Amino acid sequence: MNSNDGRKIKLADLRNQVVGIDTTIPLLDGSKRRYVFLDNAASTPTFRSVLKCIEEFLPWYSGVHRGMGFKAVVATNVYDQTHRIAGEFVGADLQRNVVLFGKNTTESVNLLARRFNFATDDVVISTMMEHHSNDLPWRKYCKVIHVGIMEDGGVDLSVLKSELQKHKGKVKLVAVSGASNVTGICNPIHEIAEWAHEVGAKIFVDAAQLAPHRPIDVLSNDDPRHIDFLAYSAHKIYAPFGIGVLVGPIEFFAKGDPDFVGGGTVSYVGLDDVEWASPPQKDEAGSPNVVGAVALAEALTILNAVGMETITEHETQLLEYAISRMKNLPGIRIYGPTENLGRKVGVIPFTVGGMDHALVATILSMEGGIGVRNGNFCAQVYMRKLLNVSPEEEKMKRAARCDNPILPGMVRASFGCYNNEEDVDMFIEMLDRIVRKQFRGTYAIDPITGMYSMNGYTVDASAHFRFFDPHKPTTTGEEVA
Ligand SMILES: Cc1ncc(COP(=O)(O)O)c(C=O)c1O
Repeated sequence: MNSNDGRKIKLADLRNQVVGIDTTIPLLDGSKRRYVFLDNAASTPTFRSVLKCIEEFLPWYSGVHRGMGFKAVVATNVYDQTHRIAGEFVGADLQRNVVLFGKNTTESVNLLARRFNFATDDVVISTMMEHHSNDLPWRKYCKVIHVGIMEDGGVDLSVLKSELQKHKGKVKLVAVSGASNVTGICNPIHEIAEWAHEVGAKIFVDAAQLAPHRPIDVLSNDDPRHIDFLAYSAHKIYAPFGIGVLVGPIEFFAKGDPDFVGGGTVSYVGLDDVEWASPPQKDEAGSPNVVGAVALAEALTILNAVGMETITEHETQLLEYAISRMKNLPGIRIYGPTENLGRKVGVIPFTVGGMDHALVATILSMEGGIGVRNGNFCAQVYMRKLLNVSPEEEKMKRAARCDNPILPGMVRASFGCYNNEEDVDMFIEMLDRIVRKQFRGTYAIDPITGMYSMNGYTVDASAHFRFFDPHKPTTTGEEVA
């Protein structure tokens, strides 16, 4: 398995690669429509060749790093190669760095935060732009300084630089997102790396939103602009089978005890002592997710075959097209940059004047067949900054439940490499009806959950897939065998 195995795949082929691209769904008026998925920042669909690759691999499936059977040897080799492919995808020198597989970016950040072995007065410099997953794990172990953001939603880099100088000696790490899951803004990670290294700190890049959209090169470990640690998730990069990637120096992970201990993590166990295995085995406790790793490697191979630069160019054009059309709609407010869009990935956060974000998302779904996300996108600090929520309002809203969509929020449309202008047109057409109040339904809010419903329209999951409660009557009245 090679990360560029000679296949020639064109950008235009990617759309046909998407499992479920032609799925039709029922709308409020009873008609059916092709579902337009614009929530790729949450999770992407699967590539067909990923499914095919899994099918091809499954006859060879076996436990890895455990058995001597023929299949165990093949599967172990394949699993090791998937680590290589995941590391090479971000330019890691695998003589000096290791790839650890967990289940997602969140798990990777938690693992890294624990393994850093911080003293309580050590400092991590992060930003107010971060996803909760690149904020809360650091807060557990040390002092976190959150660098603020500027008017356009970007991180205040001059403050970041001065905080690094101010905390020289104490600051161990800068933890920053490669691209924001709210505004899509890309941070200048190599510049930040250089500043961090100047004061003896390391850098961690949360690449959950960067990896699917931009070529990444962590550079040589000796380069002052090198990215020391980086994480990304397979479910955001067309292989949603439960793998998260963490890349970092072998010597870092060779030191200290792993978080999870047990099978696979050791080379020797006595009654009173233990010798840990070498990374990555040391930090991949228990039987690993081999199938998920194969899926990820195939998805990355497809993206490599198309070329990440090509994908970036396409997504930027799509973003420009979408934003130019949204600008013509009255009452829409887009947050973050709306010009020079090369500096952000394809994520558009917006509100519609006078309308609750949850209502807008519900109408887009029920009447337009458009899948978006609304709420605070697990970035509450950033959200409140962007929305200019006053401390009083913040206090008031705090009384509400944490996941309550009544909390200040936005609607987010986000693109994948397979989306096209037709998807954008369908989204704009429905948004246009919303801003002109030409939607059909009368929606009611549930004051507890903050979710909207519309009499006569329910999503009956049991009509679309087979796992459901046999004691609950189905709408079709079908008997369950
Ligand atoms: C920027 C960013 N970081 C981290 C995460 C967490 O990723 P995961 O859910 O795969 O752990 C997300 C998920 O949306 C994200 O957008």
